[in-house]
Amino acid sequence: MEHQKHFFRAIFLLIVIIMVYIFARSLIFHPETWVPEAKEMIRSHTPVFGNLHGCNGCHSEVARTRAEGEHKGVSCEVCHAPLSTHAEGKKKIAPMVKNRSAKLCMRCHQQLRARPANFSQVVVANHLSENGIAFEPEVCIDCHMPHSPKL
Ligand code: HEC
Ligand code: HEC
Ligand code: HEC
Ligand code: HEC
Repeated sequence: MEHQKHFFRAIFLLIVIIMVYIFARSLIFHPETWVPEAKEMIRSHTPVFGNLHGCNGCHSEVARTRAEGEHKGVSCEVCHAPLSTHAEGKKKIAPMVKNRSAKLCMRCHQQLRARPANFSQVVVANHLSENGIAFEPEVCIDCHMPHSPKL
């Protein structure tokens, strides 16, 4: 009998804790209004990035080249810039950045131990000397087409 009392007290305490938690949470989050307000807030931001397909409508030829090449999984905006800097709806509003630098390629392809071993990577100095060329700031695209880089 004595033991059962302990048991019921513990259950009672647990129920009280849960009720206090639910009450306190409802004060902080206003459950009736929180979700619609958050949705409204998110909707009011203008999108900065397009997505993997945000450029294709206006650049179908590049999109086709890229879709057949090794860079099909790399978003246009990784190498260029966010869609919103360049186009609005169906209109071009400003020039798009073209990053031709070797540093961009090296960010993904320079050999690093931390990368998965089966990801294509090169020791840049060796790769260039094997191909008989010296380093220059835009050297990679002398040989590799950025939209379809496999030679
Ligand atoms: C791996 C990086 C990379 C990716 C991914 C990439 N581009 Fe490019 N893009 C470049 C570089 C570098 C140039 C400049 C080439 C040059 O000047 O020779 C360029 C040039 C261009 C040009 C100018 C015309 C031309 O062919 O030179 C257009 C348009 C373009 N890119 C659109 C796109 C679109 C659209 C996508 C996605 C479907 C895309 N790019 C994905 C790196 C990239
Ligand atoms: C609403 C149509 C439209 C969209 C969307 C669009 N572009 Fe363009 N873009 C153009 C036009 C028009 C030009 C100029 C003519 C050309 O080079 O084809 C251009 C030119 C370019 C150029 C050459 C440099 C310049 O500014 O002239 C690059 C690079 C480029 N776009 C990349 C992109 C990328 C990357 C995206 C997606 C993030 C994109 N574009 C989305 C219409 C668009
Ligand atoms: C955001 C990361 C990223 C950037 C930036 C990038 N690449 Fe790639 N690249 C990839 C991925 C992902 C693949 C396909 C997967 C693979 O080959 O392991 C690839 C594939 C390649 C391949 C084919 C490899 C093979 O196995 O034959 C070459 C060559 C290449 N890229 C060169 C370049 C060059 C040159 C640049 C700069 C203009 C560049 N990449 C920029 C991610 C990137
Ligand atoms: C003089 C021409 C030339 C230049 C410049 C060049 N490459 Fe290459 N690259 C090649 C050739 C040829 C191959 C294919 C044979 C090989 O694997 O070496 C290749 C292959 C690759 C591969 C695939 C390697 C693999 O084993 O999967 C990557 C990644 C790559 N290059 C990245 C780059 C980067 C990054 C740069 C700029 C720092 C660059 N390349 C500059 C000629 C070049």
